[in-house]
Amino acid sequence: MESSKFPDSFAWGASTAAYQIEGGWDADGKGPNIWDTFTHQGGDRVYKNQTGDVACGSYTLWEEDLKCIKQLGLTHYRFSLSWSRLLPDGTTGFINQKGVDYYNKLIDGLLEMNVIPMVTLCHFDHPQAIEDQGGWLSEKTVEIFEQYARFCYATFGDRVKLWITINEPYFASKLSYEVGNFPPGKKEVGVGAYQAGHNMIKAHAKAWHVYNNCFKDKQKGRVSIALDSDWAEPLDADSLADQEATMRYMIFRLHWFANPIFIDGDYPAIMKSVISQKSKEEGLKTSRLPEFTAEEKAMIKGTADFFCLNYYTTRKVKPLDSTSSQPLGNSDVGAEGVTDPDWPLAGPEWLLVVPWGLRKLLAHVKDSFGDPEIFITENGFAQTDPPLLHDVQRWGYFQETLAEILKAITVDGVKLKGYFVWSLIDNFEWTLGYNVRFGLFHVDFEQPNLPRTPYFSAVEYAKVVKGN
Ligand code: GAL
Repeated sequence: MESSKFPDSFAWGASTAAYQIEGGWDADGKGPNIWDTFTHQGGDRVYKNQTGDVACGSYTLWEEDLKCIKQLGLTHYRFSLSWSRLLPDGTTGFINQKGVDYYNKLIDGLLEMNVIPMVTLCHFDHPQAIEDQGGWLSEKTVEIFEQYARFCYATFGDRVKLWITINEPYFASKLSYEVGNFPPGKKEVGVGAYQAGHNMIKAHAKAWHVYNNCFKDKQKGRVSIALDSDWAEPLDADSLADQEATMRYMIFRLHWFANPIFIDGDYPAIMKSVISQKSKEEGLKTSRLPEFTAEEKAMIKGTADFFCLNYYTTRKVKPLDSTSSQPLGNSDVGAEGVTDPDWPLAGPEWLLVVPWGLRKLLAHVKDSFGDPEIFITENGFAQTDPPLLHDVQRWGYFQETLAEILKAITVDGVKLKGYFVWSLIDNFEWTLGYNVRFGLFHVDFEQPNLPRTPYFSAVEYAKVVKGN
């Protein structure tokens, strides 16, 4: 790898999300979002009942974040807007100017350092007021999101050219409306995630069209959505059942959202037939998977200007064992992922380190979705608290990963345009709180000024960025 180079214009980035870093949960007129409500309710749903009330304090300490970005020499920085900081009740009926000022300072600060902002409109944290009207389960949210997107393009689009509408609709729908471990904690098994995902796809597509019709000519930016996926391989490569289960695993994860947006405006045929068949067996009159109208399909198809991929890990897959206890909502896919004991574990129990899985996933995206330009908008490795500042092992994982993505470009011909580490700084890792640390910079949450200190990985990543 030492002697190999990435393409000249390769984007080197790091990512964060508003709720995970900003704090200032009720500062200067910000409205509450679903994570504020959820964490304030306690009930041990988050590690030690921690909250994002203060987090990394980036609402006031944003210049410290800029210093981290500068130290890394990044070309790009991905962050998200807090919808309820800008629009406290989620609608453009009232605009919180202090929120606008905050993001203006951040964006201008980045541009002054020649760092290109990539901005996510909604990263798991929609306004509580929107949730009170049904959240992503409600069709009304589609239009409200469209208005929010329009407002963001109009307000920041003179300077922001890379937009992501929604972060990880798979997790945003599954965890919030089916598994229920994310706010609003709904457990509508077999229904909630499909309904929420359906509205997210429509909201994304509308937001893409608004940009395309009203802003693109003048602002010359691009819009996409960030999709997460594991890579999956059959547990037994020779078993037909395992091969089919693996295909379903990928379809119910990545293709659920990618097919409508990148292929034909509709859900994968297998997903439709499996869910419709099961719904029939359950005595339901219609499928639990909602249908798009012909008009909606035409509206959804082709609504991404590039592919944003979040990758963390890989699974070996076999048909679902109906006798084993399964995470909620796994029965439609009829497949379960297991891990290989040889894969090292980074931080949380789900994060098995499999760098070659990313190379295979990139090739899969290239082949399945018309060879799009791809940005890896999240990838990373964590340590659990207390972390080592000299995180040599973690940097080893990054090195292996970078070697794999370089092969994806040079050997497999993937149009990979950039790589963003999750995350710039240690932050509030959702239900795992501050116990799981993904940052390139350590944050000392015990100290009131929340100092940022580079891990060994940050020092080494800066060298890679510098030398391309
Ligand atoms: C992603 C999510 C990020 C971050 C990361 C690490 O699913 O978009 O916000 O938490 O996982 O677990």
